[in-house]
Amino acid sequence: MTAHTTESLAHAANNRAVSGMRPTGALHIGHYFGVLKNWVAMQETMQTYFFVADWHALTSEYENPARIKEFIPEMVKDWLVAGLDPERSVIFRQSDVKEHAELHLLLSMLTPVSWLERCPTYKEMQQQLAEKDLSTYGFLGYPVLMTTDIIMYRPRWVPVGQDQVPHVEMTREIARRFNHLYGHFFPEPEAHLTPSAKCPGLDGRKMSKSYNNTIQLREGMDTLAPKIKGMLTDTARVRRADPGEPKNCNLYPYHELLTEKDVCAEIQSGCRSAALGCVDCKKILLERLGLFLAPMQERRAHLDENPAYVREVLEAGRERAQAEAQKTLHHAREMMGL
Ligand code: TRP
Repeated sequence: MTAHTTESLAHAANNRAVSGMRPTGALHIGHYFGVLKNWVAMQETMQTYFFVADWHALTSEYENPARIKEFIPEMVKDWLVAGLDPERSVIFRQSDVKEHAELHLLLSMLTPVSWLERCPTYKEMQQQLAEKDLSTYGFLGYPVLMTTDIIMYRPRWVPVGQDQVPHVEMTREIARRFNHLYGHFFPEPEAHLTPSAKCPGLDGRKMSKSYNNTIQLREGMDTLAPKIKGMLTDTARVRRADPGEPKNCNLYPYHELLTEKDVCAEIQSGCRSAALGCVDCKKILLERLGLFLAPMQERRAHLDENPAYVREVLEAGRERAQAEAQKTLHHAREMMGL
């Protein structure tokens, strides 16, 4: 067998996925349908590594690092209640595996600054977060750090949202450059997008904490009910007897995510014929949301009773991740002749 076939066989067998999330506050159902649901599904069939990207959070929050620390256990809890299983997935904190810092340094040597300056998220984030000074070396190097996090585990897949695709593209380029300079070692991983789940915010814009239009995973019925009640439906439907159009309704996309297919069909026709009013439609949704969130609240109550558990999960994850990271670094150093 030629080296080439051996290598492609190895690649075909590589069923590993790596992804991370910045700890920036409580997760909401937009995170769930956009990313977490995908993570939970992947752990069934793949070897999965999920980490808290706390060093990434520092790139924009370096003036207020203490807050990052508070968010870490809360985010891990959100992951666990959403269905991540620490037996199946390696769940860890980026800064616990210092090997990321060394590989980042090595990769920074071979990454052209022009690639980083051209990264579409670079200028975009600087403009969006104009109140912060993001003209730093660390922020410019964000994609190198992300590349490190990924190729450290030599995965095939990177499950992320659409906004992260340019970073995965950069990961492939940096991996290719390493391979070109020192010999083939890193696979070129691919973005693995969540199958087109659309979860807009309560007001129809992108769901985001900064728009104050979210439904958090930890949300109880007491705060949920008024949020749903206050949502805009088809604004052309002024009176109860007026027919409506689900396509023009902020509520309807949630039915698509949470309500059974046949009921969705009834809702559509009921709305268009005015047989179903918005108040009743909201009742149906509130019930489905309750059913969707209840098991998460139950799991969270358990976790809250066992504060040591999250720490143990992260410690066990660190051990597994670090074993892998040390192997990668050993090889990378060797290939570079260090
Ligand atoms: N950049 C990602 C985000 O902002 C977080 C992240 C850091 C990441 N390192 C990663 C995602 C590695 C996937 C793989 O959401």
